Amino acid sequence: MPDVRHLYLHVPYCQAKCPYCDFNSIAGRDDEHAAYVQALLAEVRRLPRGPYDTVFIGGGTPTLLGPRLLEGLLAGLRDHLLLADGYEWTCEANPGSSDAERFAILAAHGVNRLSLGVQSTHDHHLAFLGRVHRGAEAERALALARAAVPRVSADLIMGLPEQTSAELDADLELYRRHDLAHASVYHLTYETGTEFHARRARGELADIAPERSRALFAQAWDGLAALGLEAYETSNFARAGQESRHNLAYWLRRDYHAAGAGAVSTVAGVRTTREKHPARYIAAVAAGDGALWKTEHLTAAELLAETWMLGLRLAGGVATADLAAAGDHEERWRPRADALIGEGLLEERTGHLTLTRAARAVQDEVTVYLLP
Ligand SMILES: C[S@@+](CC[C@H](N)C(=O)[O-])C[C@H]1O[C@@H](n2cnc3c(N)ncnc32)[C@H](O)[C@@H]1O
Ligand code: SF4
Repeated sequence: MPDVRHLYLHVPYCQAKCPYCDFNSIAGRDDEHAAYVQALLAEVRRLPRGPYDTVFIGGGTPTLLGPRLLEGLLAGLRDHLLLADGYEWTCEANPGSSDAERFAILAAHGVNRLSLGVQSTHDHHLAFLGRVHRGAEAERALALARAAVPRVSADLIMGLPEQTSAELDADLELYRRHDLAHASVYHLTYETGTEFHARRARGELADIAPERSRALFAQAWDGLAALGLEAYETSNFARAGQESRHNLAYWLRRDYHAAGAGAVSTVAGVRTTREKHPARYIAAVAAGDGALWKTEHLTAAELLAETWMLGLRLAGGVATADLAAAGDHEERWRPRADALIGEGLLEERTGHLTLTRAARAVQDEVTVYLLP
C-alpha cells in the first residue's frame, strides 16, 4: 500500500452558482445535504485511515451545510481518520455562509485553517461576480475566522473588466487589516461552460489587455510582498512557513486520496475521478461499486507534462533533475529555455527553471512552448 499523506474532500453545494465558476458546484438541493454527508462518510470509511499530514474540505461551499450536518460530518471524519502530528486541516468557506457557530464547530473538531472566498472588497464588483455576500459580510467573516482558528487565508479575484489599480490596492489591504499570513489572488478566467464565457462570446464581456494583466500581477506581487506575503506559487502568497501544505503537495506531485462528488485522487500513477452529480454520486456510493468512477493510468507523457506545468507554477520552479527523472533530457528543452531566458521570461538557478514575474501573466503560453 503506498503511503498517502494527503486527503481532499468535496462538498459540491453553493447558495448560488457564481457566473465565472466551473468548479463542481451546484446551487440549492438543500434536501439532499444529509444524504450527501452520509455518502461522503461512507466513501471516506473505505479509504485508508491515515495518518494524514493534510486534509482539505473544499467545494462548493462546505460551510453551507447546516451546523448539525457539519458537526456530523466532522465527527464522522474524526472517528475514522488519523491525523499526523502537526497536521494541517483546511476548510473552505464563503463569507455568505460563515458564522461563529459553524467556525466553532470546525475548530472544535480539529480544523485549523480556514480559506475564505472574499473575491473583492467592493460591493459593485461583488455584484458583478454574482456573489451572495457583500464587503461588510466578508469583514465580519474574516474577523470571526481569525478568532476561531490559527490560520486564515482569503481568496481575491483580480483582472475584472472595470477594476482599477486603486481598487486592487484597497482589496490587498484586507490582508493587513486582518493580519492574514496567506493570500490567494487569482486572475479572472473565462472558463468554458460558465455564464461569463457565454457573455464574452456574445461580446458583452471583454478580456482585459495583456499589459493590464501584467501590471496587475506586478501590483499584486509587490503589494503582498510589502505585507510580508511572498509569492510561493503563481496565485498564492504566504509568510514563511504559512504556505498551504495541502496545495503544495499537489504542485509537488505527491499522491493524494479524495472523496466526494467529482473529487479527483491520484495514487501511484492512477487518477480516479468520481461521479460529478451529487445525486448520482450518492447512488453510486450506496451501490458500493464505484462504477461511475473514471480511472486513468497516467502515461509517461502525461506525468512529464504535469512535472513541467505544476513545477513552473511554483516560485521555486521545476527541478531539472525531476525533468530528467520524468524522461525529459536537457538537449531537448535547452534551446527553448535559453530563448525564454533571453526574453526575460525564464530564470535558471541551482538546478531549477523558474518563470519570471513578467512570465506569470502569460504562463500558459510559456509552459506550452517548453513542453515536448
Ligand atoms: C471553491 S471556491 C472557494 C470557496 C467558496 N466556494 C467561495 O467561492 O467563496 C475557489 C476559489 O477559486 C477562485 N475562482 C473560481 N473560479 C474562478 C475564475 N473563473 N477566475 C478566477 N478565480 C476563480 C475564487 O477565488 C474562489 O474563491
Ligand atoms: S466560486 Fe465558490 S461559491 Fe461561487 S459557485 Fe464556485 S464554488 Fe460556489
